[in-house]
Amino acid sequence: MGGKRVSRLVAAVFLGWLVVAGPVCAQTRRINVICSVQIEWCELVKKAYQQATGVRMAVIHRSSIEALALLMAERKNPRTDVWFGGTGDPHLQAAEQGLTVAYRSRQFDDLQPWAQAQAKRGAFRTVGLYSGALGIAYNPEQIRRLGVEAPRCWRDLVRPEFERQVMMGNPTSSGTGYLILSALTQLFGEDGAFAYMKKLHRNVAQYTHGGRGSIENVVRGEASVAIGFMHDAITAQERGAKLAFTLPCEGAPAEIGSLSLVAGGANAVEAREFYEWALSPEAQTLARQASAFQWSSNARVSGVAGLPTADMSGIIEYDHRRFGSSEVRKRLLTRWVNEVNAPGNE
Ligand code: G6P
Repeated sequence: MGGKRVSRLVAAVFLGWLVVAGPVCAQTRRINVICSVQIEWCELVKKAYQQATGVRMAVIHRSSIEALALLMAERKNPRTDVWFGGTGDPHLQAAEQGLTVAYRSRQFDDLQPWAQAQAKRGAFRTVGLYSGALGIAYNPEQIRRLGVEAPRCWRDLVRPEFERQVMMGNPTSSGTGYLILSALTQLFGEDGAFAYMKKLHRNVAQYTHGGRGSIENVVRGEASVAIGFMHDAITAQERGAKLAFTLPCEGAPAEIGSLSLVAGGANAVEAREFYEWALSPEAQTLARQASAFQWSSNARVSGVAGLPTADMSGIIEYDHRRFGSSEVRKRLLTRWVNEVNAPGNE
């Protein structure tokens, strides 16, 4: 066959494919999601949702603060339709900046009061998707080897015996890290919190990029203590890690992991459909299959065996509104960079 004939044939096949595939492509429904929960859960959401609906889903995984930064960067030309999960403060900051749109779920009345309260605070530009308590996770064997008492309180973490033994999320990239910073501010006052964090800095082996990384590093034996979420410690325990968890004696907050629809997203109809799915009992139950043990926001999700019940004693009335404000966020992070994670504070 001559070269010309081959290329004519290839062109004909290609054109034929275009004719067949063209209308199919045009009909494909799509959605772009930023996912700020554990990657296993993000992947399961994508798989289950695509299978159930045929909607093509592109999912990118970002820590909560990175997700907010991405939405800010995309403001003029949003590529994202939905922001799934991540701590509640940056969702409120996105709402305040008009990066997300108001929407009241058809299932609103089925949601837990804390999930509804998050929606009201954010003028319905966000809603509670899940919740979980922040606290101290540690490896009891390593603690024994160090010959120290297990930490029970925030104040224990600044003891000299824990030098380079503590891991926590970096507040400038991790929503968990920011929640730690703001919870300490609420508990000890702003100056008290910074005095505490400067001392804590000496004991911090690493500020991890995302919040869960601190627990994973302790599981790997890189340090003995992580400040992180109870449900992430439960996931590690389920996978066989020797990890204990305690709510600090001075108190600690619970996050309100949130869900938001991005303003100006190209697939607004699909985004709302996915949003409703994400709040449904079926979708929220699915999280367990990915070993995600947050408390679900839909009150119709029944309890799961082995999952601690929501014992709220020790959980403080965290000021979501205050720490969800962009101005407070900016001030606290600037202080943290200049005063805590700063040269000279070793
Ligand atoms: C983990 C937790 C979530 C939390 C998220 C925050 O995935 O299980 O409950 O919302 O981290 O992530 P970040 O990386 O922003 O601290």
